[in-house]
Amino acid sequence: MRNIIIGNWKLHPQSSREARMLARSIAQIASRIKNVDIVIAPPFPFLPLISAGSKVAIAAQDVFWEREGPYTGEVSGPMLRGVGARYVIVGHSERRNHLHETDEIINKKLKHALLSGLRPILCVGERKRDSDGEFFSVIKQQIEIAFAKVKRGDVTRVVVAYEPVWAISSGKSAKAAEPADANEAALFIRKTIAGIYGVRVARGVRIIYGGSSNAKNAKDFLSEREISGLLVGRESRDAKEFIKIIECAYTVS
Ligand code: 13P
Repeated sequence: MRNIIIGNWKLHPQSSREARMLARSIAQIASRIKNVDIVIAPPFPFLPLISAGSKVAIAAQDVFWEREGPYTGEVSGPMLRGVGARYVIVGHSERRNHLHETDEIINKKLKHALLSGLRPILCVGERKRDSDGEFFSVIKQQIEIAFAKVKRGDVTRVVVAYEPVWAISSGKSAKAAEPADANEAALFIRKTIAGIYGVRVARGVRIIYGGSSNAKNAKDFLSEREISGLLVGRESRDAKEFIKIIECAYTVS
């Protein structure tokens, strides 16, 4: 499966000038890279500034579940499409945590994104890993609720990101997962999807890893059988490092 490298900028950078510069540096390299899908997810205000003329696909970091109405502060799928977004992150652990997004909310957002023609990047992952493997049931629930009533024909348009919360760089003692453990979780996600939609559909779903990924460990994750990309946080805001990660994806592809 073709690799996808996604840069989640989170609440950075501070100015549109910096955002434009970062996007431009990435786009320059992207034009030389083949066989890798490259996506950046800037904050909402920067989306229209960046999308025009760039070869890099644009993702929004969130979306609401209604297309219009009395929902102060919210942004809909068609609005995002209108400013050039092709993907949208749904269910990031930072939103689950700080904004109390539930699996049910995430399901509504996922369905709205698909209906709007956006490709959702669905984030799942446990807060803690226990030695008894209890965390697998957390992932199973996240997947099963997120996909509730999602049409079979839409399933492979979703990219599933396995992002264990404890591995995200902002955490106190964050450290990337072991690539083999991430692969095991990805396989488990695929099996869970197969349990709902069958093996054939599940085989077509792109599953990626996120959490303290960088130019040094990218190759190890991307060499794992079940992992077809990375969702990169911190290192995606350093053009040089992000480009190295993209080049890794190109080499292993
Ligand atoms: P880091 O790469 O900074 O750990 O962030 C991962 C992440 O949350 C991407 O969505």
